[in-house]
Amino acid sequence: MSGVVITVDGRPVETSADLTILETCREEGLDIPTLCFLENLTPANTCRICVVEIGGSRALVPACSRRVESGMQIKTESERVRHTRMMVLELLGSSVDLSLTPLVDQLMDRYGAAPDRFDGGATVEEAPTIDNQLFVRDYAKCILCYKCVQACGVDAQNTFAISVVGRGFEARIATEYQLALPDSACVFCGNCFGVCPTGALIPTTEYEMRAAGTWDEDAQTVTRTICPYCGVGCNLDLVVQDNRILKALSPLDHDVTSGHLCIKGRFGWQHVQSE
Ligand code: SF4
Ligand code: SF4
Ligand code: FES
Repeated sequence: MSGVVITVDGRPVETSADLTILETCREEGLDIPTLCFLENLTPANTCRICVVEIGGSRALVPACSRRVESGMQIKTESERVRHTRMMVLELLGSSVDLSLTPLVDQLMDRYGAAPDRFDGGATVEEAPTIDNQLFVRDYAKCILCYKCVQACGVDAQNTFAISVVGRGFEARIATEYQLALPDSACVFCGNCFGVCPTGALIPTTEYEMRAAGTWDEDAQTVTRTICPYCGVGCNLDLVVQDNRILKALSPLDHDVTSGHLCIKGRFGWQHVQSE
């Protein structure tokens, strides 16, 4: 690890050349928004909401993937940066449904984004795909962040059941030959919905309860436990409401699990509440 000195928003900061701009800024307590970034995935650089301005660089750079370099002069909230983040939010908000994207309202306020001014644009209108009992794919909420593709591929599952097909407005996440999930290579690990930032991929329990108006996060607890099925020792975060398990998540900061699970840990808890 070699130390470097950079300047962030006018302040000198000592950091490590191994870190990205995002990691350095987070260590300094700065809040750079992200959508396509997740600690356990390779940065895909697709959303561009994390961009920052670097002295001497013509283009803004994504903080989530760019490593720091000695002498870098970084501006994290300059007018150009704020304008770009506003545009990213407006273009996303006017084309897909962000209603289940955490903290998006705060981001819209922070950057003065008004997606309504693009009304009548290329809005994705698509009914949710329900082709199995375990999770729903609602691509009207998909921001094409690639996280699910990475989690299904080399970053975790190595199953490669899903990928991005098409170009431009036709681009979308799909299985091979657009097969239904049960007919595809999918092994129902749920790692894709574990990383989805917008609720486009959502467990069936949550989808049905939201539709019925019974999903109540204020009444939910999250309990960490260990998957009972094998000796690997994956940790589970069980989301419980009214004494019923609703879904199993996987902690990002656990060195066995790293945010991922197999089908047994992810969905094999129904017997606990069998009637
Ligand atoms: S459930 Fe697992 S195997 Fe199936 S698409 Fe999602 S990540 Fe891939
Ligand atoms: S389905 Fe979710 S994780 Fe996959 S690309 Fe769309 S928004 Fe990202
Ligand atoms: S969070 Fe950096 S490009 Fe999406």
